[in-house]
Amino acid sequence: MRKLPFFKICPTASNSVDIIAAVLAENSISTRLIEPTFDNLPLILWRRGVKLAPIHEIDLIKAVGRTALAALLSANPCGALFLVQPNNPTGYTLDADCLAALAESCRDRGITLIIDNSFRFYKRRSFDDYEILVQSGVRFMAFEDTGKVWPTHDLKASLLFCSRDFEQLITSIYNELFLCTSRFSLLLLEQYILGTARVGLSQAVWTTVDERRDVLRRTITGTGLDIDDAALHSVISVEWLDCRQTGLRDLELTRAFASQGLFVLPGRQFFWNSGYHDDKQFNIRLALLRPAEVFKRAMGVIRALGPDIRAIS
Ligand SMILES: Cc1ncc(COP(=O)(O)O)c(C=O)c1O
Repeated sequence: MRKLPFFKICPTASNSVDIIAAVLAENSISTRLIEPTFDNLPLILWRRGVKLAPIHEIDLIKAVGRTALAALLSANPCGALFLVQPNNPTGYTLDADCLAALAESCRDRGITLIIDNSFRFYKRRSFDDYEILVQSGVRFMAFEDTGKVWPTHDLKASLLFCSRDFEQLITSIYNELFLCTSRFSLLLLEQYILGTARVGLSQAVWTTVDERRDVLRRTITGTGLDIDDAALHSVISVEWLDCRQTGLRDLELTRAFASQGLFVLPGRQFFWNSGYHDDKQFNIRLALLRPAEVFKRAMGVIRALGPDIRAIS
């Protein structure tokens, strides 16, 4: 992987988002953020005063090839495009060719590309995305996160990278907020990462994610819960479910599940721009990497309800 000379280490991914938001606000860069996505991203961007509009993931999924991607950017004018790769909650990820085409289209239009790589370690076909960004000549900011794979009781680190044009401003904002990173945290995280490297991500992480996903997908058969189309190929540590066929909305279902001890997130929060629309209220997001006992109990709740999910509301 390309060695990038400039980086900052933030305590959490939200801190990286906050610095990026400050850069966008200071330069009055209107930004298009992927929808759906985890709602703390728009919340931080709004808090910093960034002018936000959505870019719909479904349109990105459909825009295959250079011409379609260029047309998508023309139809969605902006100063910056903010993507999450893979996306939380759907797991959708661009491949290397698509990222290269997108980076070049952004460069040609003077659009800054921002990428949240928090879920990077779940990607099965990894490629050198920083090499692609640097080679394209696009203006970019991007960040990493240890927290989605090595939770370590919320001790985490987020590396923040950028193209040359943002180095100065990011440095001054970073210095106002943090100045340095705890060596203790970094040494501890290093041990986790080296331990994972010794056995490989497949054994340390992916096998469990795949087994849990498989169990969940078998458990929901006949319940009215379905895998959302956008998440059919997801390999990340959460599952994005469509609950339309249960007859319940996301909030009704999350409350009903909670009363049985199963905690899931309502989907409308991820539709940060359109969650009030009727048809954006039929998803729930379930975390796959809870402790084994918790996951087993969750599957037990779904299995016991079977086709009666509707009756629990
Ligand atoms: C895609 C994504 N980015 C950033 C964050 C923020 O991470 P943190 O809470 O560790 O700051 C989250 C939180 O879940 C997330 O899902």
